[in-house]
Amino acid sequence: MPSHDTNSLAHIAIIMDGNGRWADSNGFSRNKGHEKGTENLQSIVKKVSDLNIQFLTIYAFSTENWNRPKLEVSNLMNLLFDSINKQLDILISNNIRVVHLGEKSSLPSNLQKALSKCEESTKNNSGLTLNVALNYGGRTEILHSVRKLVSQNVLPHQISLKDIDDNLYTAGIPDPDLIIRTGGEKRISNFLLWQSAYSEYYFSDVFWPDFTSNELEEAIHTYYTRKRRFGMTKFREK
Ligand code: IPE
Ligand code: IPE
Ligand code: MG
Repeated sequence: MPSHDTNSLAHIAIIMDGNGRWADSNGFSRNKGHEKGTENLQSIVKKVSDLNIQFLTIYAFSTENWNRPKLEVSNLMNLLFDSINKQLDILISNNIRVVHLGEKSSLPSNLQKALSKCEESTKNNSGLTLNVALNYGGRTEILHSVRKLVSQNVLPHQISLKDIDDNLYTAGIPDPDLIIRTGGEKRISNFLLWQSAYSEYYFSDVFWPDFTSNELEEAIHTYYTRKRRFGMTKFREK
C-alpha cells in the first residue's frame, strides 16, 4: 500500500458498471456478465476488508434500473438473492457488517427477507461495513429524508443540514472519500448525490468483471495523491 500522510480513507464507494459490455465483448449473455460481476465483487470486498478500510458502498441496482427489460431485471433480482444467501457465512466469518441502502418494499419478497436476515445476522460485526445500494436512488433518498422531517412537524427554519443527513439511508456513515466508477462512463447516475459533495472521483475504463484488486490499489494510490481542499485555500491535513 502506498504511504500517505495527508488524505485519510475511511469510505470507498463503487459504481460497478460495464457487466453488459463485458459480456458483449466476450460473446456471452448480459446475464453471464452480471454473474461475473458478482464474482468479482466477492474478491473486491475481501480486498477492501483486508486493507482495513471501514466502509465500502456498492451500487448494485438503481431506481432507474427497473426500466431495463423485464427478464434482465428478474435475472438480476435472482442473482442478488442467490449471492446474498451464498455469501452470508463468508460475510459473518470475515466480521463484515451489511447495511442496505434503498427502498426494500418494492423488491421481491424473498430478496427483502434475505437482505433483512443478512443485516440482522451481521449487525454486531466490527470489521468492514458493506453498504449495499439496491433499489437505491440519490434523489429518492433526499426526498424521503425531507418527508420524514416534515412528518415530524419540524418548522422550515429549524431544518438543518445535519437533520437531512441524519434521515438519509446512510445516517451515521461518513461521506465517501473516494468514488470509483468502472466501465468508462463519466457520470454519477443518481448515486450518493448528497454524500458525494466533496468526494474524490476515479474513473476506470475497465469493465466491472475485469476490475481487479490491482486496479483498486491503483485507484487508492491516485486518491492519496489528490489535494482535497474542501473549499479552503490549503489542502486539509489530518
Ligand atoms: C452494471 O452493469 C450492473 C447494473 C447496472 C445492474 P451494466 O449492466 O450497466 O453494464 P453495461 O453498462 O450495460 O455494460
Ligand atoms: C449505474 O449504472 C447503476 C449501477 C451500477 C447499479 P447504469 O448502467 O445503470 O448507469 P447509466 O444508465 O449508464 O447511467
Ligand atoms: Mg451500465
